[in-house]
Amino acid sequence: MKIIAYGVRDDERPYFDEWQAANQQVEVKLVADLLDESTVDQANGFNGVVAFQQKAYSDEMLTKLKKFGITNLSLRNVGVDNINAETAKHLGLKVTNVPVYSPAAIAEFTVSQLMQLLRRTKEYEQKFAHQDFRWAPQISKELNQQVVGVIGTGNIGRAAIKIYQGFGAKVIAFDKFHNEAIEQQGLYVDSLEELYRQATVVTLHIPLFAETTHMLNQKAFAQMNDGVFIINAARGPLVDEQALINALDSGKVAGAALDVLEEETKVFNHDLTGKTIDYPIFTNLFSRENVLISPHTAFYTNVAVKNMVNISMDNNKSLIETGNAKNLVSFE
Ligand code: COI
Repeated sequence: MKIIAYGVRDDERPYFDEWQAANQQVEVKLVADLLDESTVDQANGFNGVVAFQQKAYSDEMLTKLKKFGITNLSLRNVGVDNINAETAKHLGLKVTNVPVYSPAAIAEFTVSQLMQLLRRTKEYEQKFAHQDFRWAPQISKELNQQVVGVIGTGNIGRAAIKIYQGFGAKVIAFDKFHNEAIEQQGLYVDSLEELYRQATVVTLHIPLFAETTHMLNQKAFAQMNDGVFIINAARGPLVDEQALINALDSGKVAGAALDVLEEETKVFNHDLTGKTIDYPIFTNLFSRENVLISPHTAFYTNVAVKNMVNISMDNNKSLIETGNAKNLVSFE
């Protein structure tokens, strides 16, 4: 059995090596390149492909995989929004993801970003850079005084709720699908409008679908409290970024922490030292002292990376051996 893994970073290699040592009957090839039209030929002759990336898997590339007889594709991440569902169905691709690699990694990151917004750390850092060590006017807010509106109560949303409750914040939640434990705590509100009306912080923990695209738009911001804080480490297109800019300009939004952006692949995970960045929305948001941008790093911990490698490799091996796997994605 032969598996090729694409987009392998140096920090992942020790975990691949461990997996290989425990699965010596499998021939594993690791390549640093991402999986795309220019690299897909390297998969010819393999039984399965393991991949990880934020950019889209093109129909052309997926069709080529199928031409090589490869229908087993295992992603090392959770989101499958970069695969066209119709194409996957049409080609009969079997796709697995890693739905739970470390909910805590993302939850902890989002909470720490909110705390930085509340304590205005970016503003202090900018003052410190020119040796201004005064307190004022950066008087801050306390987390225990916030009403945190958690949208999405899957594994990550629930991990975030636990942390917020530990800090004494009031938590309210919205999800189309209710989780029993959250229901029992009485955290659910009946509508997004109600969540927007009550929350002083809105944090997104939902997948990207057609119906969630630009869910935080002009209308949604208008329904929120003045001075609300926005946290998004889920998917960039959940937020209409121009509407967010307008809401920041008007003061409706007091601060935002964005680990994801709609066109993030233009900048995230690239070394652009000394280069001019032609991405006006990014430049606008990045320059603001009340906006924290991070390059889709919420997931990036040792625990998460280890689980991403092990679970995706197990999934791919299982697909090849049995035609099925624990984390098979349904594109219905
Ligand atoms: C995911 O697991 O879907 C993530 O958002 C991580 C990412 C860097 C692909």
